Formats: sequence, C-alpha cells, structure tokens
Amino acid sequence: LGERDSFVGRKVLITAGPTQEPIDPVRYVGNRSSGRMGYAIAQAAWRRGAEVSLVSGPSALAAPWGVEFVPVATALEMRDAVASRLGDADVSVYAAAVADFRPVEPKDRKVKRTESGPELSVELEANPDIALETRRQRRAGSIAVGFALETDDLLENAKLKLEGKGFQLLVANDATEEGAGFGVSTNRVTILGADGSVDVLPLLSKDEVAEEILDRVEALLDASVKDETPGG
Ligand code: CTP
Repeated sequence: LGERDSFVGRKVLITAGPTQEPIDPVRYVGNRSSGRMGYAIAQAAWRRGAEVSLVSGPSALAAPWGVEFVPVATALEMRDAVASRLGDADVSVYAAAVADFRPVEPKDRKVKRTESGPELSVELEANPDIALETRRQRRAGSIAVGFALETDDLLENAKLKLEGKGFQLLVANDATEEGAGFGVSTNRVTILGADGSVDVLPLLSKDEVAEEILDRVEALLDASVKDETPGG
C-alpha cells in the first residue's frame, strides 16, 4: 500500500509527544507538545515500508496506522521502552518533548487544598536524557535524528545538541516563531547534518517536514550501506 518501498526491511524507532510526571494521582508536570511531528514521521516511515515502533507520551492523536504503538506516561517509562528496542533499530528519531524534571516524591493521594495551605512547593529532580543515556545502545551504522526546540541562539544550541547527543541529523525549530513548535500543524525547521550541512526549510506542514527528514535519512542509510560493501 505504500507509495514507495525505500524503507522495506528497516526498523525505525520514534519517540513522540510530551511526558507527564505525576505530582499526585490527578496532577502532573508536563508540557504542551501535541505529538504531531513524531506521529507524522511514524506514518511517513510506514508509508515507505519501514517497520515502525512509536513510543509515545500522552497525546490526543490517534495511533498511526500500521505501527507498533507503545504508550508511556513518564520519562522513565519512555527511557525503558526505548532502551529495550534501540538495539534493533536502523533509524532512531527523538521527537519527544521529554519533561526535564519530575517530582521527587509523587503523592499517592490527591493533595488537598486545605492540607497544602496558600502555597505548595513541589521538589523536582532531573529526568534522564533519553537520547544521550541510550546512545551506546544504538546499532553501529544506524541513523539517529534529534530535535531541538529553542527560543534563542537557535543554530548554536542546535549544533551543541547534534554533537553532544551523537545525532546524524538535528531538526531545529524556534519556539517563538509563528507556525513553528508546539501545538500547530506547521513547522519551520532548519536541518543540520553531522557533516556540517545546514538546510533552512520554508514553512511546511508537519507531514511535509516528515518527508524532508526521511529523504535525508534515506540518503544517509544508502551511504552507510555503500560503506559496508566490500570495495564500496
Ligand atoms: N531528549 C531526550 N531526553 C530528554 C530531553 C531531551 O531524549 N530528557 C531529546 C529530545 O527528544 C530531542 C533532543 O533530546 O531530540 C533535544 O531536546 P530539547 O528539549 O530541545 O533539549 P534538552 O536536551 O532538554 O535541553 P534544553 O531543554 O536545556 O534546551
């Protein structure tokens, strides 16, 4: 049913959506990620013939057709789901907006207004950096794609994330720009390559951005196959 078969036989692992870190059974620390960008990549990779696993934080979107859908809530659950699948993946895409901090001691009962008084402090601790922590588990020759959402110094910060987290491609977007970032169906991105390339793309739908990303992943996969070919 796919439009092309360039990813047949390839396994693609994608993280998407926000994570929700419980404060108590009904409240959480989270962010406004909708999951759209990661879901668009999952569907587009499936259309190209890939075997896709989508590890998703809570999202209102329907699971994409044909993919292994792995719903998670917290960053720790997302980390475990990624760690157990990454060794098989030819491509890993880190599109999730992982909450950087979680409450140290989530309460097992709802915090009552009368108990907390006029102020409530919630102590937070850092969550693991999933892309960084699982980096060594990536398959040799696999392609890792990260995202960077920035409000200032877009390119400098994006370059640091590309190198620091060992991505082959980094999709950077400016959260302050209209039509880009969280909660909208469009995105204006700049795609950086580990080879130093910088592609500034126009305002596109997230589905179109997904195709742009996969075109570049496809080229890198073809190049890494050639590298492995004796004499190639
Ligand atoms: N990422 C991750 N685990 C985290 C935080 C981020 O896997 N705990 C991944 C994201 O999915 C993305 C990339 O790392 O591909 C960069 O995420 P971003 O939120 O832009 O950056 P942070 O590393 O969290 O840095 P900061 O929030 O300080 O900009």
